[in-house]
Amino acid sequence: MNIEKIILFAALTLVPFPGRAQSLTVDASKRGPEISPLMYGIFFEDINYAADGGLNTELVQNNSFEYFGFFTTNSAESVNFHPLYSWREASQDGGKGSLMVSATNPLNSNNMHNLEILRTEDNGWFGATNLGYDGMSVEKGEKYDFSMWVSVWKQRLPMQRQTTARPQRPAGTEGQPAGPPGGNVDIGAMMRSMPVSPAEIRVLLTDAAGKELASASFENEELDRDWRKVSAVLEPSESCKDARLTVLVKGHNLTKLDMVSLRPQNSFKGNGLRADLAETIYDLRPAFMRFPGGCIIHGGDLENTYHWKETVGPVEQRLAKWSRWGYFQSMNIGYYEYFQFCEDIGAIPLPVLPVGVSCGFEKYEVLPMDQLDGPISEILDLIEFANGPVSSKWGAVRASMGHPEPFGLEYISLGNEEDNTLEFRERYPVIVKAVREKYPEIKIIGTSGFGAGVPLYDLMIDQEVWSTDEHYYMDPEWFVSQQHRFDTYDRKGPKIFVGEYASRGNSLYNAVCEAAFMTGLERNADIVEMASYAPLLANYDHTQWSQANMIFFDKENVVPTPNYYVQKMFSLGKGDVYIDNVLSGEDLASSVTLDVETEELIIKLVNYGGEEKRVSVSLKGVRRVGSKASVELLTGDRDAVNTRIDPMAVVPVSSTMKAGKNFSLKSPAYSVQFIRIPVTI
Ligand code: AHR
Repeated sequence: MNIEKIILFAALTLVPFPGRAQSLTVDASKRGPEISPLMYGIFFEDINYAADGGLNTELVQNNSFEYFGFFTTNSAESVNFHPLYSWREASQDGGKGSLMVSATNPLNSNNMHNLEILRTEDNGWFGATNLGYDGMSVEKGEKYDFSMWVSVWKQRLPMQRQTTARPQRPAGTEGQPAGPPGGNVDIGAMMRSMPVSPAEIRVLLTDAAGKELASASFENEELDRDWRKVSAVLEPSESCKDARLTVLVKGHNLTKLDMVSLRPQNSFKGNGLRADLAETIYDLRPAFMRFPGGCIIHGGDLENTYHWKETVGPVEQRLAKWSRWGYFQSMNIGYYEYFQFCEDIGAIPLPVLPVGVSCGFEKYEVLPMDQLDGPISEILDLIEFANGPVSSKWGAVRASMGHPEPFGLEYISLGNEEDNTLEFRERYPVIVKAVREKYPEIKIIGTSGFGAGVPLYDLMIDQEVWSTDEHYYMDPEWFVSQQHRFDTYDRKGPKIFVGEYASRGNSLYNAVCEAAFMTGLERNADIVEMASYAPLLANYDHTQWSQANMIFFDKENVVPTPNYYVQKMFSLGKGDVYIDNVLSGEDLASSVTLDVETEELIIKLVNYGGEEKRVSVSLKGVRRVGSKASVELLTGDRDAVNTRIDPMAVVPVSSTMKAGKNFSLKSPAYSVQFIRIPVTI
């Protein structure tokens, strides 16, 4: 032994280690269950402005003028909405006029309102400026697609109605795609013979002070009273974090606009979703995506229920809806975009559909038994939309949107957190039966009801659903206490989908306690098939879910939380087979899996206590063990969080360490550690 080694040996043996000795014995000859390839996925809900103002690249807020004020207990903002929300008057060269949102000559029956720009003087330009979602962030060097629908009139329409009221669709068209242009009001027909002055329209991208960054003109377009779409590409001369979009008109008295849109050409895989946010989600390599939400599928009441058919087809024909989370859903991200996003991130699609019973948190309403055909046909038609041939009605809609190949839907989730009521218990079996009869190959994921007490679990066993969804938003200590939750579940019952969970906080401690819980998911992988943290996204400035969220963002920043990194470590390091392991020691949790392809043991060690531990690891049942292991360690101060100012305060750190059949390692206080060791078994 040379002198350095002697000193090192003395240091290791003589200097007292600050923690108590613990042990982890891994026996690779004892294999447990296979880890489901679908184990870790994501749950996307349009909450916290996750879609509009978030993943949706549309920069114009209220671009179809469908906003109105409404009340929900989930937001203080919603009562302040109105049809001109996020818009204000704009003028140049002394132009004067007024703005009004009108329901005359609508674009179609799903898009009942449009903006009327009425000029009151012959000189100058007059129009409207959109403020976006807290301003628009635009980059020099990027291209932005501008478009809008326009209809121009020589003079003001007679009998028009100014409205701040909730849009009314023609009776009997609820839950259906949009009707033909013009809707139920056709005052335009009365005026078609009147001449129209030449249209002059300018669109400007400016900074907040009005400095021009890009512009386009539509002087030569053949615009008249018929709705027409115009478009241009804007290239900002400089980057701006607080830009606005202005439309100005000249030369004709009344201009009607709808679906005013500005979107960066750069989007995730070119499919219209915000690149940095989508990349952050993709980095999780989620195996599935549950969508479009939990509570929003029920809506605020039965009338506000989420109907997927209203969200497909051309964007201008989709039905914007108020959301029980307190803002509007443009449905720019609709069912087609959800399926496409799943494909783009390699996740299997897992749509959640309502079953004719309202949300457990809203006014209690149920559909009469003789009206269950509605939700049933919606479910069956969705399966056809996803999987049907292009010759089928809904397969043709999918193909017309650009995806003739099926999306390969295998699972469908029916219901979300409904109350345990007789009405639910009466309706659910009828719906399950109808789906099974037509599509026996589709795996049905049921709902165990609200909360950790899983009040509907017995019904799901009875219905023999493929798996059943349970949700818990609880304290961190509760998650630690639930490491063995599934050890005693009935193996003959449905598989388990932990579809929503979070420990009410985004500190390192929260993330570590969730990791401890996740070790129990892997030990019970014979029954636990899928799990997803919730909610996924939160706009810092418009958050309704204050407890905890996985990824925060604003228009410029994306800030993954410590909880995100735990999800990522487990997703990327889930392995294929659970390996027997026995851990001794307080405040520790472990899971060990084998990555069959790379021939590595993945030791996952969680320390949820405030004391650093030394853990002696002993590997049995292996013929050879590599001498070096790779380590990924997430640790720090118990209460550390990632913020806009310090987005990387808590991130995993990679390193290597010496390994062998027997070795010891440090498990820092409040840590999650993944150690990959090459082995021959
Ligand atoms: O994730 C937020 C909400 O929590 C979901 O919409 C709902 O299913 C649950 O109550």
